[in-house]
Amino acid sequence: MMDWTDRHCRFLHRLLTRRALLYTEMVTSQAILHGHRERLLGFDRREDPVALQLGGSEPGQLAEAAKIGEDFGYAEINLNVGCPSDRVQSGRFGACLMREPELVAECVGAMRKATAVPVTVKCRLGVDDQDTEHSLRAMIAQCAAAGVTVFAVHARKAWLAGLSPKENRDIPPLDYPLVYRVKAENPHLTIVINGGIASLDEAEEHLKHVDGVMLGRAAYHSPAILADVDQRFFGGEAVDINAAAERYVEYVERRLGDGVPLNAMTKHMLNLFSGRPGARLFRRHLSENATRKGANAQTLRNALAFLERARAEAA
Ligand SMILES: Cc1cc2nc3c(=O)[nH]c(=O)nc-3n(C[C@H](O)[C@H](O)[C@H](O)COP(=O)(O)O)c2cc1C
Repeated sequence: MMDWTDRHCRFLHRLLTRRALLYTEMVTSQAILHGHRERLLGFDRREDPVALQLGGSEPGQLAEAAKIGEDFGYAEINLNVGCPSDRVQSGRFGACLMREPELVAECVGAMRKATAVPVTVKCRLGVDDQDTEHSLRAMIAQCAAAGVTVFAVHARKAWLAGLSPKENRDIPPLDYPLVYRVKAENPHLTIVINGGIASLDEAEEHLKHVDGVMLGRAAYHSPAILADVDQRFFGGEAVDINAAAERYVEYVERRLGDGVPLNAMTKHMLNLFSGRPGARLFRRHLSENATRKGANAQTLRNALAFLERARAEAA
């Protein structure tokens, strides 16, 4: 998610779940070919496995960008066919590609030829006045014919005329049953459902119908839910959030040494302790102090101390 799932966010999320697949922000193929690659793609291999999401619609460029992503160590290359922003539409990629399944298939075909890691697609049900019964199936059929086997479907249309990107994440109605039907018709494909899923209980319900669940805003706004994912869905261990936070402090200390500002890392953890004693003081301390000149790891430790104190008082 743009501006959210940067490498610091992913490092934190990886401390909360070993098993869930994490995604980068969308990066355009143009940016990768012409921009500062280390800044755009560099990540800590302890975040593994991470899927790199690309934006673009030029098969040759996407193929080159996918190969570069693979060389950086990404476990999967995902093509964005769901982003509705104007900037993206003028570049002819993102959700408007729902109208051009043949072109998307050409893109993913070229990407597959260039890389050995899985190439996957994230799409919507359709755009504007498209008949979603047709548009989603056309996208999936064309891409599957080009060899794609994994699809993440944001289970609503994007309305490109008239709604902002934010409105397009809430206003077009969700249609989960359509995604379930498409899965039933394509048992050989891996279908991951996305959109409006707020809890692991809801995720579990969806898993009765599809192969995977993708959490966007819930994972970002309530990262603590990720701490139950390994135990609940992968037969792993539950993760202790306090221990994860301690390990994040070590990461923060190291990256401060590389010149990363404190707030760029701590902003992703403001909600980590929501609902727990001391969470408000923790959040307030970071909000007020993490952007100050001289803010450092001690600023974060001081914020965490509010939680420790609250825990001690509650005990
Ligand atoms: C701040 C923000 C940035 C996003 N950026 C991307 C993006 O780069 N690529 C993408 O495929 N979806 C992006 N999305 C959409 C989410 O991936 C997801 O499809 C959408 O929010 C619905 O799922 P949710 O209800 O679980 O959040 C973004 C969403 C938000 C809130």
